[in-house]
Amino acid sequence: MALIFILAESALELVPKEVANHPSVAKYAEKLGKKPTEILLDRSYHHEAMKRLSCPEKRGRPDIAHITLLEVLGTPLNREALLQTYVHTIDDRVIKVNPAVRLPRNFERFKGLIEQLYAAGRVPKSGEALLSIERLNLKELKEKVNPSKVIAFSTVGKPKTLSDVCSEIAEEENPAVIVGGFPHGHFRESTLKIADEVIRVDKEALEAWVIASRIIYQYELATGLPEKRLWQARL
Ligand SMILES: C[S@@+](CC[C@H](N)C(=O)[O-])C[C@H]1O[C@@H](n2cnc3c(N)ncnc32)[C@H](O)[C@@H]1O
Repeated sequence: MALIFILAESALELVPKEVANHPSVAKYAEKLGKKPTEILLDRSYHHEAMKRLSCPEKRGRPDIAHITLLEVLGTPLNREALLQTYVHTIDDRVIKVNPAVRLPRNFERFKGLIEQLYAAGRVPKSGEALLSIERLNLKELKEKVNPSKVIAFSTVGKPKTLSDVCSEIAEEENPAVIVGGFPHGHFRESTLKIADEVIRVDKEALEAWVIASRIIYQYELATGLPEKRLWQARL
């Protein structure tokens, strides 16, 4: 029994060809000694270039995946290997995250690692993969992981408390939860279609990492994990 966590439509992608020659991108890539199409799109540096892209409000925020991954991978649920984590990207790639991976705390180092992942398809290049990436849309990911139930979290969903949602999914064999890895805007229709329920848990739009860590904590409470871990405590 494990919880499948999917950060969906994440604002994580390499610089697209159509803005690769923009001065803000070319200069930044040169500083790093890389080709523009080998670096991650990042609004902090590529704001001007991004004005040319479609849906710019949903793109160029790799920090969302970074912070969310640090949050979810550090949880007791993940330490117990009861969490399967996937990052689906805005351009339909899926990063499979090994629960044992220790990601860089430093954001620039995280970006370097993800750029390495894009180049090689997996990290490290040999041995057990800690991160691997493949072209996959969310429907294909759902077919692959075969969850017993899929809950998507969105401010346009049906209102329900997180504690109620998590008590329900705690009864499931392998439920999946979907959180948006983008700063603004809403899920695509195709994302909403793969969900059994779309749930709103607050009156405001909260950050993805806040929602992610609260889902996992409530799920831990609903499955009795804190008690189980306490009585096994090692001093
Ligand atoms: C910064 S929000 C994205 C903004 C988007 N305008 C929205 O309303 O969902 C990032 C993600 O956190 C989750 N989220 C944020 N606030 C939420 C809420 N009140 N209820 C349910 N999910 C929420 C959703 O999965 C959302 O895609």
